[in-house]
Amino acid sequence: MPIVTSTEMFKKAYDGKYAIGAFNVNNLEIVQGITEAAAELNAPLILQVSAGARKYAKHVYLMKLIEAAVEDTGLPICVHLDHGEDFEICKSCIDGGFTSVMFDGSKHSFEENIRQTAEVVKYAHDRGVVVEGELGKLAGIEDDVHVAEEDAVFTRPDEVEEFVERTGVDSLAIAIGTSHGAFKFKPGQKPKLRFDILEEISKRLPNFPIVLHGASSVVPEYVKIINENGGNLADAIGIPEDMLREAARSSVCKINIDSDLRLGMTAGIREHFAKYPEHFDPRQYLGPGRDNIRDLVKHKIKHVLGCDGAAK
Ligand code: G3H
Ligand code: 13P
Ligand code: ZN
Repeated sequence: MPIVTSTEMFKKAYDGKYAIGAFNVNNLEIVQGITEAAAELNAPLILQVSAGARKYAKHVYLMKLIEAAVEDTGLPICVHLDHGEDFEICKSCIDGGFTSVMFDGSKHSFEENIRQTAEVVKYAHDRGVVVEGELGKLAGIEDDVHVAEEDAVFTRPDEVEEFVERTGVDSLAIAIGTSHGAFKFKPGQKPKLRFDILEEISKRLPNFPIVLHGASSVVPEYVKIINENGGNLADAIGIPEDMLREAARSSVCKINIDSDLRLGMTAGIREHFAKYPEHFDPRQYLGPGRDNIRDLVKHKIKHVLGCDGAAK
């Protein structure tokens, strides 16, 4: 099975009322933890790479790691650029073998977002690559861009048909109350997603795959381990799993998860060093981090995304 686009995955996910996990990868242990989980549960996968990940690990290393995962597991895996901010990075990822790119024009005006997204779509489609666009603005931190909560904007349902039609995007990321990072709601604030907006968008875009960014649950078990072992993530709070499950049953076909992977890895490492302060072989502490990522992804696939058994 070669690296695939998300087209078939999304069709099956839409009809089957489940979602595909899009997990951010930055190094070998993260790729292995995720793919081991997906292989055990026979689940399709999207592995996504941010600009920051490319800067940290280099495009070619991440690409080769993902190719190795495909060879090792035989799973359908889509390789996706997360939050491409301009044509150049999208082009570079398309030329470098990615099968999917996100052009994130959410910081631009509606017209400028359409113009730049359509340019990326043209280049991508001519080369068999699919494109995710974004309408609305999520709060939180992406690389160095910090969107304050007051600047976050829910997606306007009355704009989605025109956006999809004029850009030709293959999927659409929307803002309904999720946000990036580990602090998604204020202390004491009740987590809430705007399912009414999602429903309205789904009506206007029948059979069209919707994407949710900022969808980590900020797993309380890992936050607790980190806090008990020298960390400080007081007030970390994520999206409740039952809300994500509800989204996965609707038109949401792709759910983005990064912060939970970071928490799992960090919890494994912190817990390890608390027990074995004398260790200095990276395999001794990266191994438990990788195991946590595997267990976390298995849980997501079975209980949140519902895509277990969905890989051919
Ligand atoms: O949405 C952002 C992802 O969590 C990637 O984060 O840009 O720090 O790699 P990053
Ligand atoms: P989280 O920070 O909630 O994991 O979101 C990740 C994401 O949206 C990557 O694009
Ligand atoms: Zn995102």
